[in-house]
Amino acid sequence: MSEVTIRVATPDDLGVLSELIAASYAMLDNGAYEAARLAAALPIMSRANPNLLASGTYFVAEADGEPAACGGWARETPGTGEIEEGVTHIRHFATHPAHLRKGIARLLLDRCLREAAASSAHVIKSQSTLMAESFYAAAGFRRIRLMEAEMAPGISLPVVEMARDLP
Ligand SMILES: CC(C)(COP(=O)(O)OP(=O)(O)OC[C@H]1O[C@@H](n2cnc3c(N)ncnc32)[C@H](O)[C@@H]1OP(=O)(O)O)[C@@H](O)C(=O)NCCC(=O)NCCS
Repeated sequence: MSEVTIRVATPDDLGVLSELIAASYAMLDNGAYEAARLAAALPIMSRANPNLLASGTYFVAEADGEPAACGGWARETPGTGEIEEGVTHIRHFATHPAHLRKGIARLLLDRCLREAAASSAHVIKSQSTLMAESFYAAAGFRRIRLMEAEMAPGISLPVVEMARDLP
């Protein structure tokens, strides 16, 4: 059993987390998404987001010192950047394929839920990939609607908007 630790990501993690996210998001090519649309979106989605890395609320989970998963939360709505009072957002979760189903993303999610609750938000939302819906549902998120997440002009993918109340 690996020892898992969580630390705040920094801009220096750009390269290593882009590799991790690219390996993780390649798993989305499992037939659930239309191949051509996924091929257009993957290069954009698979890069670590410099703004998140600098935010102080984006985390790296390391297993025996090696990056195994990443994810965070933010007040800004993904895509639009709008801020809605009391509402927070899950951002860019990914577990490396070598570390799936070890509870590592859940550790990161629990950290996000605790911090978002402490920020006095009352709800947290997620734009979940089709693959991740069960992961968020297991943590108490409910499906709101299927929507299109725009990655760049003319490039979008269906995601499941989900939400969970915060204590
Ligand atoms: C979604 C994702 C981050 C989950 O990472 P993970 O580290 O494997 O998740 P965990 O091990 O913490 O899972 C916790 C619980 O969530 C649920 N869960 C997670 N993945 C699941 C799956 N593929 N199918 C069904 N339930 C799942 C289970 O209840 C699991 O507990 P269990 O293993 O004891 O049954 C990972 O599958 C991933 O990186 N997917 C590709 C990228 C992606 O879609 N990211 C989400 C962006 S919104």
